Amino acid sequence: MKKKTILVVGGAGYIGSHMVKELLTSRYNVIIIDDLSKGHRELIPGGMFIKGSIKNSTFLDTVFSNNIIDAVIHFAASSIVGESLKHPLKYYSDNIAGTVNLLIAMHRHNAKRFIFSSSAAVYGEPLKTPVTENHPCNPTNPYGTTKLAVEQILKDCDKAYNLKYISLRYFNAAGADKSGTIGEKHKPETHLIPLVLKAATGELEHIHIFGTNYPTADGTCLRDYIHVSDLARAHLLALNALFAGEKSAIYNLGNSKGYSVRQIIKIAEKVTGKTIAAIENEKRDGDPAVLIASSDKICKKLGWRPKYEDIETIIKTAWTWHKKSI
Ligand code: UFG
Repeated sequence: MKKKTILVVGGAGYIGSHMVKELLTSRYNVIIIDDLSKGHRELIPGGMFIKGSIKNSTFLDTVFSNNIIDAVIHFAASSIVGESLKHPLKYYSDNIAGTVNLLIAMHRHNAKRFIFSSSAAVYGEPLKTPVTENHPCNPTNPYGTTKLAVEQILKDCDKAYNLKYISLRYFNAAGADKSGTIGEKHKPETHLIPLVLKAATGELEHIHIFGTNYPTADGTCLRDYIHVSDLARAHLLALNALFAGEKSAIYNLGNSKGYSVRQIIKIAEKVTGKTIAAIENEKRDGDPAVLIASSDKICKKLGWRPKYEDIETIIKTAWTWHKKSI
């Protein structure tokens, strides 16, 4: 059978590069587009790379004219909650206008399958945890608003054009591929685990704990960390479901366990064997106290099972990558 071609948009980024690796292992043809504004050329593990932006319609038309694309997996986005509060228009432009541009190009070239990187940020402050997909969506920041808006746009495109999509609402992506050759590399880095590891190597003197009087056991926020390779495998299952003719759907992706900021620091100290200095600080705007997923739906419907549930293993894989990449 002829190999199918998957367009990975934002494939030079953290999750995108792990996706490219997963697709290549699963014998798909992979085309990667990325404007390299946040991604890194050296993170792309293979496939055909074309530099360009989803905001450029001419560029997208060329990509779709020159290749038969069987499905699109879309990772390219701005994704920092705090930045989205300061610069909402950047987020509406990058995440909504950019995605609409991509969908227009797909529509023009009759590409009908789409996998979308959504986020737990669509839920806002959870009323009940673990959060299931039918929990009300009330985003508390523009980043979450953009992800929810795209989900609505996808629903409309399904109705009008028969676009089949799967939207994956990630909780906290973490860890790195077991090879240690690709991993998380953001500039600036704002995520807890990589910052904690930077403090372990001495790259940072200390880390900040944002908020110590949340209504949790130790006063710090609880998050549900999911290994990036488990995320990538979920996309693969979603892709195969679309190829098998499944309907459009939305799934949460997490491990259904919450770890506090203080717990993460402790576990990272154990994994690295280093002392990590932490300074207690004010809460960060837009941070919910607890975000824990129910991933039952994707387990039942697509047979997804995490391989790296254990938080210590997740942090170990991040540490292996981090030591190599400094
Ligand atoms: N934190 C600190 N100190 C730091 C960095 C983070 O205490 O230096 C805390 C945060 O306050 C939060 C937790 O560690 O409680 C995790 O923070 P991250 O920045 O690593 O991740 P977030 O939970 O803020 O964000 C992630 C994704 C977003 C997504 C959000 C909600 O990165 O894209 O989950 O789903 F919107």
